[in-house]
Amino acid sequence: MYIVLEGIDGAGKSTQITALKQWLEDSGLEVEAIVEPTDSDIGLLIRKLLQNPKATEENIQKTLGLLFAADRLLLMDKISKEEYCNKIIISDRSFYSSLAYQNPSGWIAEINKFAKKPDIVLLLDLDVDLAIERCSGEDEFEKKSFLSNVKDSYLDLAKNDKNRFKIINANNGPKKVQTDIRKTIAPFLGICVSGID
Ligand code: TYD
Repeated sequence: MYIVLEGIDGAGKSTQITALKQWLEDSGLEVEAIVEPTDSDIGLLIRKLLQNPKATEENIQKTLGLLFAADRLLLMDKISKEEYCNKIIISDRSFYSSLAYQNPSGWIAEINKFAKKPDIVLLLDLDVDLAIERCSGEDEFEKKSFLSNVKDSYLDLAKNDKNRFKIINANNGPKKVQTDIRKTIAPFLGICVSGID
């Protein structure tokens, strides 16, 4: 099973993935955690480009869209292999990040057509003001309108794919968010919900 956590910057994905992985392993499941962008050469190039103060500008976003798709393609064999061994894959981001961040235009979907669709997308939905507070030190105005668009794109994606997307309120504290995540995915993994608090 391929489970993905998505959300705007500051939504708390990495904290939640660490706790989720531990819980699943304690429940006797084998888990592989992956992160996009990866640590491939393309991933390193992406991280460098993300540092550019003009990273939210249109042409840099388009360039990032191309690089993210290439970086992701290199991950697909690993995901298939782990799934074949019955491991649960938990990924920090997927091609849905590209659809939300790099503007949901047709060509982004086209260049990601070889990306595997996750079985479950946990969308950590955070208020943009809270996100800005958590990601201090950046160009706040630009960041705010950019992140608002990303948040809206995510919610549109979720509205159009209700079976796959599970919206988690990320404005709550990390413990409550983790409980909500566990309760959401437990039925898909044959884990009893009643013991989760
Ligand atoms: P993020 O998960 O926030 O990384 P970190 O934990 O290092 O802060 O992801 C890095 C950034 O990359 C984030 O701003 C979202 C962006 N991103 C895209 O714009 N498109 C994509 O396809 C992916 C995977 C990430």
